[in-house]
Amino acid sequence: HRAARILVASNRGPVSFTVRDDGGLSARRGGGGLVSGLSAIGPDADALWVCAALSDGDREAARRAGHGRLDPTETGGQRVRMLDIDAATFADAYNGIANSVLWFVHHMLYQTPLEPVFDSDFERQWASYEAYNAAFADALAEEAAEGSEVLVQDYHLTLVPGMLRERRPDLRIGHFSHTPWAPADYYRLLPDDVAAEVLGGILGADRAAFLTRRWAEAFAECCAEVLGARVERDGHELRVVHDGRTTRIGVHGLGADADFLRERARRDDVEERLAALREEVGPDRKVIVRVDRTELSKNIVRGLLAYRRLLTDHPEWRGRVVHLAFAYPSRHDLAVYREYTDRVRRLAEEIDAEFSTPDWKPLVLHVRDDFARSLAAYRMADVALVNPIRDGMNLVAKEVPVISESGCALVLSREAGAAAELAEDALMVNPYDIGATARALHEALSMPDAERAERAKRLVAASTALPPQAWFLDQLEALRA
Ligand code: G6P
Repeated sequence: HRAARILVASNRGPVSFTVRDDGGLSARRGGGGLVSGLSAIGPDADALWVCAALSDGDREAARRAGHGRLDPTETGGQRVRMLDIDAATFADAYNGIANSVLWFVHHMLYQTPLEPVFDSDFERQWASYEAYNAAFADALAEEAAEGSEVLVQDYHLTLVPGMLRERRPDLRIGHFSHTPWAPADYYRLLPDDVAAEVLGGILGADRAAFLTRRWAEAFAECCAEVLGARVERDGHELRVVHDGRTTRIGVHGLGADADFLRERARRDDVEERLAALREEVGPDRKVIVRVDRTELSKNIVRGLLAYRRLLTDHPEWRGRVVHLAFAYPSRHDLAVYREYTDRVRRLAEEIDAEFSTPDWKPLVLHVRDDFARSLAAYRMADVALVNPIRDGMNLVAKEVPVISESGCALVLSREAGAAAELAEDALMVNPYDIGATARALHEALSMPDAERAERAKRLVAASTALPPQAWFLDQLEALRA
């Protein structure tokens, strides 16, 4: 065992384990944009990825590994230290604070007449969130070589930069947010002490970075309004000065990993699923594709309503289009996610009952984790539908154009971070407006081939401008500067 020179810390690591019946452990790659981006870190002996044990299988793996240090062969490439945090503390921090409070604030998901409720449960969960952040800070302090760089990721770990700086002032610390950042008026829903602690925690970093300028500006605005911090602007540079320290604010728009995706999308398991899907869709039909986590902010319900509206307003598409809607299960420990998934299922059944004919199934909904099947759908896409309420970036919007064989058209929410880079060549929509989304789908389906190909080419160029490897190195370099 040796001290690490580059450390990454995130809640979810590159793999998660399940215990098989025979007692062995099976590893599965983690989902979501964060893991996709960070997978650029190789088995470099000087790099270490510190993450939490998320499941019983993970806790078992962490225990067997001794001190939670997993070998690159067990993780699919990286040196990993998995923290075996007490299950109740983890549940409070992850389900309670991170996914029910901070995620909801940044994606503006609350129905405010009834939510949020900040009472004694919240106070207990917040204490757990602090303990969980402290566990990361302790592990990082223990693993880091003198003067090394630590890249802390996302809303789960907002307190780590400040805590780590107290333990190890020699380190260079960066924080990266993979989510949007809430505007100040909305952010102030949080209890005042918590609102300040989160901002102050991130400001413990030398540099705090975001996926788009919009989220970076919102963060700076919150620092000014909640902490009374000074925001300095110098051309494109943004800095927040608070408590005598300066934190530089940066932007790195994570792009799609074209090389990885192209190679992966040609493998046998994808070919098999492609053949099956082609059979299911039938010949000479256009395909609209969406792929998401079963996530409230992805706006799957309104997407289905827009598809129904398309079939109602434009009967000429009946029998000539199929919508592949794939959602992989996510955060189902939370009742509101389970209910949302049920709602998606019911709506899909309604649409099927309303429109299907003996030889045409208008909609194929799949709620399952099947990456190969998603890639097969990407290959078939004539239109990609990406309509989140709010989204840090949304990598699906960048991945489908790269893999689509016919050069797909993209219908994209203006509230996705990806809009900052793709707005010119995508068909942009207000995600709340079902009628507008349906019209954009019609326009996308009707787009002349030449125009579609032209736009697709530019979409691919913009989507692949900053692949994960470069995104990661840019952050590291900027932190060192
Ligand atoms: C988003 C977050 C990530 C998270 C991912 C999957 O992309 O920014 O931090 O890992 O969603 O969510 P999960 O709760 O399954 O880790």
